[in-house]
Amino acid sequence: MTQQKTILRALAGETLPTPPIWMMRQAGRYLPEYKATRAQAGDFLSLCYNPDLAAEVTLQPIRRYGFDAAILFADILLLPQALGADLWFVTGEGPRLSTITTADQLAQLKPVEAIHDTLNPVYETVKILSQELPAETTLIGFAGAPWTVATYMIGGQGTPHQGPAHALKAENRAVFQGIINRLTDGTIAYLSKQIEAGAECVKLFDSWAGSLEGDDFTEFSIKPMQKITAALKQKHPGIPVIAFPRGAGNRYAGMHAAIGADCVALDDKVEASWAAKNVQKDGCVQGNLASSHMVTGGKALINETRRICEAFSQGPHIFNLGHGITPDADPANVQLMIDTVREA
Ligand code: CP3
Repeated sequence: MTQQKTILRALAGETLPTPPIWMMRQAGRYLPEYKATRAQAGDFLSLCYNPDLAAEVTLQPIRRYGFDAAILFADILLLPQALGADLWFVTGEGPRLSTITTADQLAQLKPVEAIHDTLNPVYETVKILSQELPAETTLIGFAGAPWTVATYMIGGQGTPHQGPAHALKAENRAVFQGIINRLTDGTIAYLSKQIEAGAECVKLFDSWAGSLEGDDFTEFSIKPMQKITAALKQKHPGIPVIAFPRGAGNRYAGMHAAIGADCVALDDKVEASWAAKNVQKDGCVQGNLASSHMVTGGKALINETRRICEAFSQGPHIFNLGHGITPDADPANVQLMIDTVREA
């Protein structure tokens, strides 16, 4: 059967006249309808674990803007919670977790088979979405990459330069490696269930990959993502994988092959013409527009959007931001970005 959905065509390596478009964190606090549904749920985690409301906030940006893809509404920190870590969100500050830094604490984590007890509502959300999304919209599932999730499990919160995780890596390699291994296996199980429930593509967020240096980058960013990708493709032949090693810099070159990914998501630090030559030559790319343009808009937004479309026009490309849209963004600027991409 010929694939009709534009996102899946781009992921399969097709160069389209107009790049399909979606946006990292497209369901979120810049949208008044998101804030209303979150208030109805009570708090962020209750929203994540309420399949009807999580499906509703996933659909909101599709209804408002007609994006080509919907990304499941959930969070990368639900997996550590399902493995037994305590998780809560402090309003205005971000996530907090009970920390895991010793062999005893590692041993107390739940086995991978147990994660579904907690994560079942997420699979339920995916099922609802695969029924309710428009026929042309691709449903993207996701998880955090092991290194990024480990930085939160070890530090107990977002930490400058991911210091606590680097410290544990240096001081107790066995425990650090144990956490990475458990997250790798947990992510395979978690994403497999999302795929079985109806996710048509999955994305791995390695938001803190950039703080890994030298061999550590290969060992703890690339290798776990490669292992997850290989396992998913073996279990679910043809499932497209997007990898986002944010902050990889010139290490973005060769990334498709290193991970086995169908698409590499670019942050806003890499130069588009460099990435076209060195990354897109190996497959689909996505991203690159600085999310600050969603706050400031205007001519700069239009010019940058056109520049990125032009730079990636000779190969497979999905238009996206280089990182998530922020709560202070103006919803009108999102429309301006979409109009610019679609008329270019
Ligand atoms: O993209 C989407 O619309 C889908 C949902 C999604 C969320 N988080 C919802 C969310 C996705 C894909 C994520 C990924 C995520 N979560 C990452 C990787 C991507 C990135 O941004 O680097 C990370 C590091 C997290 C962990 C996390 N979740 C943090 C650090 C925070 C607090 C910071 C913040 O933006 O508030 C969250 C909370 C969070 N996750 C919100 C949303 C919509 C805001 C919660 C709220 O409504 O108050």
